[in-house]
Amino acid sequence: METFTTKTFNVGELTGISKKTIEEHLKLYKGYVTNTNLILNKISELKNDPEKNAFVLGELQRRFGFEFDGMRNHEYYFESLSGDKKEVNKNGNLYQKIEKEWGLFENFLAHFKFVAMTRGIGWTILYYDKMSDKLIITWVDEHHLGQLTGLSPILALDMWEHAFVYDYATSEKKKYIEAFFENLNWNVIEDNFKNNL
Ligand SMILES: [Fe+2]
Repeated sequence: METFTTKTFNVGELTGISKKTIEEHLKLYKGYVTNTNLILNKISELKNDPEKNAFVLGELQRRFGFEFDGMRNHEYYFESLSGDKKEVNKNGNLYQKIEKEWGLFENFLAHFKFVAMTRGIGWTILYYDKMSDKLIITWVDEHHLGQLTGLSPILALDMWEHAFVYDYATSEKKKYIEAFFENLNWNVIEDNFKNNL
């Protein structure tokens, strides 16, 4: 049973993020897709004898969110770096919403980058909460710890060291955060917002 398939991304030459980094990072992404499918298969196999396999099944269930979110977060990440770099549309819905939420677009950028400097490995994610009609930026530990129920990711920044260690020292992650914003295709990010309104 193959449930999820590996997506392909059109990531070209980036500024400040090397080809080697992207190539290695895509291999890791592929691993999350493989393991998401693997866990589902293992669960369906082992549940034939739930008593004997209780602990293994429990652990597999607990790790599913790690693998699935690892897969999905990377899809948002690589999509936002795909195609050519595109500036944010200042007349678009997302820009207007960001200004409503943070006053100035620059304030949003500053807050996102501030959250990205959270100690540890994980993600910084901009979500849209349809229920309150609000944008929220939060830190997600690993891939899954702190994901917000029912909210749609709009922009996801990978803050695991594997995302930048070929290009920057671990003490220089600020430079990687800047590089990420240098390469974004805001059309993709705006579509993520539009599709969830
Ligand atoms: Fe990653």
